[in-house]
Amino acid sequence: MKVAVVPGDGIGREVIPAALSVLDAFCLDIEKVSLEIGYGKWERTGNAINDGDLDIIKQCDCVLFGAITTPPDPAYKSVLMRLRKELDLYANIRPFLPLKNVRLPCAKKFDFIIVRENTEGLYSGIEELHENVAYTTRVITRRGSERIAEKACVLANDRKKQITIVHKANVLKSDSFFRDVSSSVAKRKGISYNEMLVDAMAYDLILHPERYDVIVTTNLFGDILSDVAAAIAGGLGLCPSANIGDRYALFEPIHGSAPDIAGKGIANPIAAILSVRMMLEWMGRKEEAGLIVRAVDSVLSQGIVTPDLGGSYSTEDLARAILKRLD
Ligand code: NAI
Ligand code: MG
Repeated sequence: MKVAVVPGDGIGREVIPAALSVLDAFCLDIEKVSLEIGYGKWERTGNAINDGDLDIIKQCDCVLFGAITTPPDPAYKSVLMRLRKELDLYANIRPFLPLKNVRLPCAKKFDFIIVRENTEGLYSGIEELHENVAYTTRVITRRGSERIAEKACVLANDRKKQITIVHKANVLKSDSFFRDVSSSVAKRKGISYNEMLVDAMAYDLILHPERYDVIVTTNLFGDILSDVAAAIAGGLGLCPSANIGDRYALFEPIHGSAPDIAGKGIANPIAAILSVRMMLEWMGRKEEAGLIVRAVDSVLSQGIVTPDLGGSYSTEDLARAILKRLD
């Protein structure tokens, strides 16, 4: 396996080395290719990513990605959007299962996955900016909706065999299209489904997260709902994600580059470490993936936590403590 490693900016450069130290502990036959992509490169060269970087990434099997600071340039096009499109990483999979020993704002037990369409919707990139008006085209295709609904059904098949389709079909025609295509996929696959309007979903996810199992939705709604979910799951520093296509995959914490804490060595590396866990699962390395979760649980149970969880340990302390348990 060949993995492109993109730490990116801010805390990406702190949490990715921590996550790599955990990956290295397994001594697997994995070749790593480091790439400088992001704000730093944009400052130096005017481009956050170039075609050569993309060629190198396409020669790898998957990407381990930190986070990128958005440059203050109105013409800047998101690197992550470009990677998701060029590598056709159409399914953004975000599991929310609270870690043991993390104090949560809500007492309910829950275990759900947000399956977010990752290549179209309001992030289509089709935009017009005029002096007094701006347009963004929301693109929902049959193929895009079918394949994300199919991915949700595959996940549901190994779980409770039910999905929740989240949309705003009472207002948006593109969403009634998404709802209709997704529900016919569910019927065809023998998966039961219910529907929620996205605003009601944001509310209910906070009050009754235990009601949900596999949630499938469009790009922007999935982006927003997963930050809501991160809040009830203990914080952005704990939540990993996988961007999956048929050929490539990209694994990343769902948080950004956190400039407010960057450089202090206090970022929580668990989201990045659990992204490595998702990467190992994708590679078929279930045993190593399981060991990571147990090591993280054990560290948390001893109160070894970074300041976002009320502790005073550093990013490196956490990585060291997790490595010790893996030994
Ligand atoms: P953010 O996720 O970077 O930070 C939000 C809040 O959560 C901050 O208070 C931060 O300190 C905290 N936080 C995030 N991750 C943490 C961790 N691992 N440990 C402890 N605390 C953590 O989102 P924000 O501030 O909106 O964006 C910052 C920059 O990152 C922007 O330039 C944004 O465009 C970019 N961004 C990049 C993403 C990516 O590359 N995947 C995703 C989200 C934002
Ligand atoms: Mg987001």
